[in-house]
Amino acid sequence: MHAAFALKGLVVDTPIAGEIRTREGYLVCEDGLVEGFYDSLPGRLSGIPVKDCGGRLILPGMSDLHLHAPQYSYCGTAMDLELLDWLERYTYPEESRYADLDYARKSYAFFTRDLLHTTTTRAAIFATIHPEATLELMRQLDEAGLGAYVGKLNMDRNCPEHYSEGSPENGALQTRRWLEMCREAGFARVFPILTPRFTPSVTDAYMQKIGEISREYGAAMQSHLSENLSEIEWVKSLCPDAQNYADTYARHGLFGGACRTIMAHCIYCPEEEDALMKRNGVFIAHCPTSNENVIAGIAPAARYLRNGYEIGLGSDVAGGHTLNLFAVMASAVQVSKLRWRYVDQTEKPLTMAEALYMATAGGGRFFGRVGLFEPGYCFDAVVVDDGATRNLREFSAPERIERCAYLLSSRVEAKYVDGCRIL
Ligand code: GUN
Ligand code: FE
Repeated sequence: MHAAFALKGLVVDTPIAGEIRTREGYLVCEDGLVEGFYDSLPGRLSGIPVKDCGGRLILPGMSDLHLHAPQYSYCGTAMDLELLDWLERYTYPEESRYADLDYARKSYAFFTRDLLHTTTTRAAIFATIHPEATLELMRQLDEAGLGAYVGKLNMDRNCPEHYSEGSPENGALQTRRWLEMCREAGFARVFPILTPRFTPSVTDAYMQKIGEISREYGAAMQSHLSENLSEIEWVKSLCPDAQNYADTYARHGLFGGACRTIMAHCIYCPEEEDALMKRNGVFIAHCPTSNENVIAGIAPAARYLRNGYEIGLGSDVAGGHTLNLFAVMASAVQVSKLRWRYVDQTEKPLTMAEALYMATAGGGRFFGRVGLFEPGYCFDAVVVDDGATRNLREFSAPERIERCAYLLSSRVEAKYVDGCRIL
């Protein structure tokens, strides 16, 4: 057996949503994949290097299904407006600065450094409309060893003139040029994803071209859906002939099925939109911290999860105030309680085990065999030191995860992606 090693310690994952599996022993990696789990190493594996993680938690690397890298520079500020005003006042002015490649390089270095130190091993990321700056972000993530889908934004309406691609024709041209640059770069774990920002930013003519490009390149797509009530009204007035918000993407082949798709938020989906998400296997990025901060609302995440929708968690930085998916897990549980109290008493609040599932196995599915410690899965793992939270009491592994989420004082001590140690 070559390129094999083992992590020894407390191995935790969630093969079934809502159930935390805890095993103590050896998690073996071979050629970047999980080879198996053993209480004690069998003879044929004796002699492989073993890293003893002591009493630390060994968790699957987490997948952040939705975040905006250029917004990280103002993360934790700009909390006083709702979505549409927030975009105008804070987001577009900052994102437009990434036209300057030097600014982009420096700013993305902070983002990449900080993401590296979180539990996140894979992420679906929005960049800006700038091809070169987006490629620079991809290069930095790839060098750090992280796994990601990164999108150059598509925007040709309702944005400042200096932060617009100007026309569907130019947008399509820039998008193709960027895809060719990605092809040439040949990154190991970082791939392009088509990213029409949201329907208000993209004309129908441009959306059609993005659909064509998706089929031509076999590219996945990501966007926003039904996040805010004013946004939904705006989409109705911009696209009066569409059946619903989802249809503004779906009618161009950009809503799941052959085009693997992530939709962020999905808070106010009407019945048909909701049904189409499920039928087409659209991944829902549930972003509770962001939904709180920009006063968007509370998504029916518990119902989605328990009814077999594809769903993971998103930090949605900088609507969300932290890259830390432990914090997003806690927020998911907390807002689901408010939803239960104030909105819908047919769906019990999420449990922390369900939140962990969404952060690992649920979101991981978008990236392939990611998010579980089962044979054949990518060996994506984080070793979490929660020593700072110890006290006289004994805590079970599920309790320790709860404390990681609520207390936020644990530290990622080591991190592996495809079996490569990157931290
Ligand atoms: N909808 C369109 N753009 C954005 C964005 O940058 N953040 C959030 N939360 N929603 C959006
Ligand atoms: Fe977003």
